[in-house]
Amino acid sequence: MSEPAPESPVVAVARVGPGAVEALRARVLRAGTGLDALRYEQDADPRTATFAATLGPDPDEAPVGTATVFPAPCPWAPSEAGAWRLRAMATEAGLRGRGVGAAVLRAAVDHVAAEGGRLVWCDARVAARAFYERHGFTVEGEGYEVEGIGPHWPMARHLTG
Ligand SMILES: CC(C)(COP(=O)(O)OP(=O)(O)OC[C@H]1O[C@@H](n2cnc3c(N)ncnc32)[C@H](O)[C@@H]1OP(=O)(O)O)[C@@H](O)C(=O)NCCC(=O)NCCS
Repeated sequence: MSEPAPESPVVAVARVGPGAVEALRARVLRAGTGLDALRYEQDADPRTATFAATLGPDPDEAPVGTATVFPAPCPWAPSEAGAWRLRAMATEAGLRGRGVGAAVLRAAVDHVAAEGGRLVWCDARVAARAFYERHGFTVEGEGYEVEGIGPHWPMARHLTG
């Protein structure tokens, strides 16, 4: 008999500055690579939107999930208008499978839609493919290796309405 699904622990997803999620990004996305912090050049762009999920009502609480979106042409569909890249999706290791990732991804995609974006694309780690598919993304080409991280799929979600 399967266990009942746990209640989603997320109480808040908020837009934050990139500094608020740097430690979480480093722990989850660069674990074991020797890089102790994770910054992207797009973090300085005011159009870049980073979201963080926390488990309690205190906004200063450490984030347990994060996702970042910013306008960027889709590498495999460069002429497609309104393309945004999704990057740095991460949930704290002990808290996965409870809807934290779903909540921050929803916030990120909602933001892109509110900004008039038409397409959200990402380099998806192979282990995360099913997660993205569950949220409307599809694989749009051949898999490839991202140096130092591993195999990835090119994935995108086309926004309608
Ligand atoms: C990918 C990642 C961000 C997903 O975060 P998450 O918080 O576990 O996401 P969710 O809980 O919303 O969904 C994960 C799974 O739990 C399931 N789930 C979602 N809500 C649930 C709930 N309330 N109860 C039980 N299960 C639930 C989903 O069906 C999903 O299953 P899947 O893995 O087969 O797709 C997370 O696994 C992670 O940080 N991985 C390491 C870094 C990484 O790969 N990032 C992506 C880079 S492209």
